[in-house]
This record gives sequence, C-alpha cells and structure tokens, in this order.
Amino acid sequence: MQRIVILNPKGGSGKTTVATNLAAWLAAADTEPALMDLDPQGSATRWLRKRSAESAPIYGIAAFEKAASVTRSWQLRVPPGCQAVVVDTPAAIHSRHFPEVTRGAHAVLVPVMPSDIDIHATAKCISDLLLVAKIRRSEGRLGIIANRVRSNTKVSQRLTRFLDSLDIPLVATLRDSQNYVRSAESGEGLVEMPRWQVWPDLAEWEKLLSWLAGRRRDGLPRQLAVSAPATKLIC
Ligand SMILES: Nc1ncnc2c1ncn2[C@@H]1O[C@H](COP(=O)(O)OP(=O)(O)O)[C@@H](O)[C@H]1O
Ligand SMILES: [Mg+2]
Repeated sequence: MQRIVILNPKGGSGKTTVATNLAAWLAAADTEPALMDLDPQGSATRWLRKRSAESAPIYGIAAFEKAASVTRSWQLRVPPGCQAVVVDTPAAIHSRHFPEVTRGAHAVLVPVMPSDIDIHATAKCISDLLLVAKIRRSEGRLGIIANRVRSNTKVSQRLTRFLDSLDIPLVATLRDSQNYVRSAESGEGLVEMPRWQVWPDLAEWEKLLSWLAGRRRDGLPRQLAVSAPATKLIC
C-alpha cells in the first residue's frame, strides 16, 4: 500500500486541498484510496462528508478523533482493498513529530505558496524533514508542490529561485484557481468536475500522479510495497 503524506506546518499552504484532490484522483483511477485526517480541524473529513453517494469511494480515517468505543489501531485501520493512503496533516505540527508522521511514507509532498512568509516557513520544514525526520534527498521521496501560483509575479519568481536552491523536485505547480475553492465547498475533486472547467489544471495533476507512480517501491502499479505500520500517529 502506498502512503503519501502531505506536510507543511505553515497553515493555508494547501495541504488539505492537495490531500483531498489527490484522494479524488486516486479514487477516479480505481485505487480505492483512504484519506487519513490528522488535523483536529477535520477539514478533510468534512470534505469527505460532502461527497455524494455516487462519487468514487474514498475511505475516511478521522485519525484526529478520540475514539472511546474502539481501539486506536482499529480506528486507524486501512481496509484491505485500499491501495493508497493520503495523509493530511495539521498546521503548526512540531518537527519532533515528523519522524512518526513520515515513517513508511512512499512520498512526502510539501505544498508551498508564493509568499515570503510561506517560503521562509517552508525552508524550515524542508530542513526539519532532512535533519529531524532523516529523509535523504537521494531517496527521492520528497517533492514540492508550488501552490496558488500566478505566473510572472515577482513573488512567484522568488518562489522559483527558492525551489531551484533546494535540490528537491518540484512535482507540480498548481494555479490560483476558483476550481480549488469549489472543490473545498462541494466535496468534489477537480478530476470529477466538468473538463471544460478544469482543463488548465489537468496537466500539473498528471505530472504529480506520474511522479507518485515512480515512488512505488516495486514499480508495479497495482501491487504496491507494504508500508511500515504507522505506529503512534500524533493527533
Ligand atoms: N490553488 C488554489 N487556488 C485557490 N484557492 C486555493 C488553492 N489552494 C488552496 N486554496 C484555498 O486556500 C485555503 C487554504 O487551503 P488549505 O488546503 O485548507 O490549506 P492547509 O490545509 O495547508 O491549511 C482554502 O480556502 C483553499 O480552498
Ligand atoms: Mg488543512
């Protein structure tokens, strides 16, 4: 099973937007994904509840909830058919939690917005992923997603320079688009919206999905390497 963690302690960088849309994309590809919500704000879980019964199924794991009636491992279980788990993480997550949250992840995606504050916060996040979570660049598990990018603005050029300096792949550049706002409101992924509405966004998502496909340890699309158990998840 592929485990994809979306992480950046900076609030509003696009974690939930990426996590929910990625889950929708994987669902559309019949991979029966799970969406694990570690954020006590529960935005990804709320998005899931908005989905219509006809939408491709995404299994929700509200990991932030304190479940009184079931064991923690039962609460966090992923159904056998699931081929991928997308993990949405909270803002302000402390770097001491990075090792447990990223353990066994095939991919750790860091969304970053083009603003000085976000760039600065993301530099610290990347450094903590390398030094605290001990993810090596050479493992190829780390990827950056530039989010809410408006081309040719000064700050987007600054973001490009920052990303060039990191030596970590930029796996997608998402536009600043009302499609993402609609997605958050409707419980639909962009992949489920009319093509005429989302066509400018599709190429970048395809880039992201093909980068993710390359992260699977055995290289096989359907029989994914079993990830290490996500022990002691914070929430
Ligand atoms: N590419 C985008 N274009 C337009 N709005 C976006 C985009 N990405 C995120 N947003 C909006 O920005 C806000 C914060 O995004 P969110 O994914 O919730 O961030 P995080 O989970 O990192 O706190 C949400 O209202 C979301 O709809
Ligand atoms: Mg969020």
